[in-house]
Amino acid sequence: MAEKRSSFTGKIGFVLAAAGSAVGLGNIWRFPYLAAKYGGGIFLLVYLVLAVTFGFALMCAEIAIGRKTGQSAINAFKSLDKRFGFIGVIAAIIPALILPYYSVIGGWVTKYLYAFVSGDATASASDTYFTGFIAKPFEPIGWFMIFMGLTALVVLFGVEKGVEKVSKIMMPVLVVLTLVIAVYSMTVDGAMAGVKYYLMTDFSRFSATTVLAAMGQLFYSMSLAMGIMITYGSYMKKDVSIEKSVRQIEIFDTGIAFLAGMMIIPAVFAFSNGDEAALGKGPSLMFITLPKVFNSMPGGAFIGATFFLLVLFAALTSSISLMETVVSIVRDKFGWGRKISCLAVFIFCVVLGIPSSLGFGVWDFVTVAGLSILDMFDFVSNSVLMPIVAFLTCIFIGYVIKPKALIEEIEIGVPFKAKTLFTVIIKYVAPVCIILILLSSVLDVLGVMKI
Ligand code: PHE
Repeated sequence: MAEKRSSFTGKIGFVLAAAGSAVGLGNIWRFPYLAAKYGGGIFLLVYLVLAVTFGFALMCAEIAIGRKTGQSAINAFKSLDKRFGFIGVIAAIIPALILPYYSVIGGWVTKYLYAFVSGDATASASDTYFTGFIAKPFEPIGWFMIFMGLTALVVLFGVEKGVEKVSKIMMPVLVVLTLVIAVYSMTVDGAMAGVKYYLMTDFSRFSATTVLAAMGQLFYSMSLAMGIMITYGSYMKKDVSIEKSVRQIEIFDTGIAFLAGMMIIPAVFAFSNGDEAALGKGPSLMFITLPKVFNSMPGGAFIGATFFLLVLFAALTSSISLMETVVSIVRDKFGWGRKISCLAVFIFCVVLGIPSSLGFGVWDFVTVAGLSILDMFDFVSNSVLMPIVAFLTCIFIGYVIKPKALIEEIEIGVPFKAKTLFTVIIKYVAPVCIILILLSSVLDVLGVMKI
C-alpha cells in the first residue's frame, strides 16, 4: 500500500471515535421506545447486565482482532487463518449495506434541523409534514446527498485529522446538549409521571423477549459484528488499554441511551397526558411526535433545533465510522488511495441510497414481506447478517484461533482483569444467545412470532 496506515493519536481520540460510532440514532430513538415497551426499569437492568458481559466481550474481541492484525475486516480474518477470510467478507458487506439507508435517515434529520432553525417549527408539527416530505421524489434525496457529503468530507481528511478531530468536538457537545434537554424535559408540567414510567421496575414484565430485544439493541448500539471495531482497532496504538477503552465506550453508549429516554419519555408523556401509545415505534416518534411536543413547549423552536442538532451529531459520527470502515476495506483490497476510495464509496452509496429514499414515495409499491426498501436493507443487515457474523466470529475465536490468541493482544502492557469472563462468553454464552436472536428476528418478520 502506498500510503502509511493512519492511527488515532491516543486514548481519548480512540475512545471518542468509537463512542461516536456507537452513539447514534439507535440510542436516541430506538432505545427509549424499547425501554418504554419492555417494562422500563427491568429493560434498563437487563440491558446493563448484557452490556457489561456480552457487549464487553464481543467489543474487546473485535478491537483485539483489528489491533493484532493491523488490517480491516476482510484481511484481518484472512491473516489469522486463510480458510476463514469469508467471515471478513460478510462482515464487510454489512456497513456497505447500512451506510446508504442510514444516510437517508441522516438526511431527514438534517432537514428537520433546517426546518427548526429557519422558523418552520410550527409547520413541522403538522400531521402530514413528515409523510408529505419523505414521499417527495427529489427533496429527501437532496438532504441525503448533503448528509452523505458531510460524512465523506470528514472521511476524506483521514483518521487523525478527520474522524478523530470531529469526534473530539462533536461528542462532548452531544453530551452537554443531551443533559440540557433531559433536564428541561423533566421540568415540564406532568413530566414526572413519564420519569416514573421509564424508571419503575416492573418485574412481572420480565420475559425472554425482554432479553432478546435488549440483546438485539445492544449489538446495533455498540456497532458490533460489522467490522467497524476491527477497523478502529487497527488504528489503535499498542500502549492503549483495550479493556479500559471498552469500558469507557460502554459508559458513553449506555449513558447517552439512558439520557435519551430521560429526554424523550417525560416530554412525550406530559404532552400526551400519559398515553403510552404516543411513544409509538420507529420514525414516527422522532419525526412526528417530537416536533409536536416541541411545538407545545415554551421555547420549543429552540429546544427542537438543539435536539435535532444533537441527533445530527450522533448520526454523523456513526455514518463516519461506517464510511471509514468501507473506505478502509476498499483501500486494503484494491490498494487505492484515500481520495479515490472515498469517491468510489460515495458514488456507491448514492446509487444504493436513492431507492431507499424513493421507497417512501414513487416506489412505495416495492415491498418484500411487507417491508419498504429501506426497512428491507435494515432487516437484512441488522437482523440477518449481523447475528451470522457475530456467531461465526465467536466460533472462530473460541474454537479456531482460541481466546488465548486475543487475550495475549489485550494483555500487552496491562493486565486483563475479565479474562475468564471473556473466554466463557465467547466460547459458550454468546453463540447460543446469538442464534436465538437470529431465529427470533426472522420469525418476527415472517409473522410467526411477535417480539
Ligand atoms: N451504533 C449506531 C446507533 O446506535 C448505529 C450504527 C450501526 C452505527 C452500525 C454504525 C454502524 O445508532
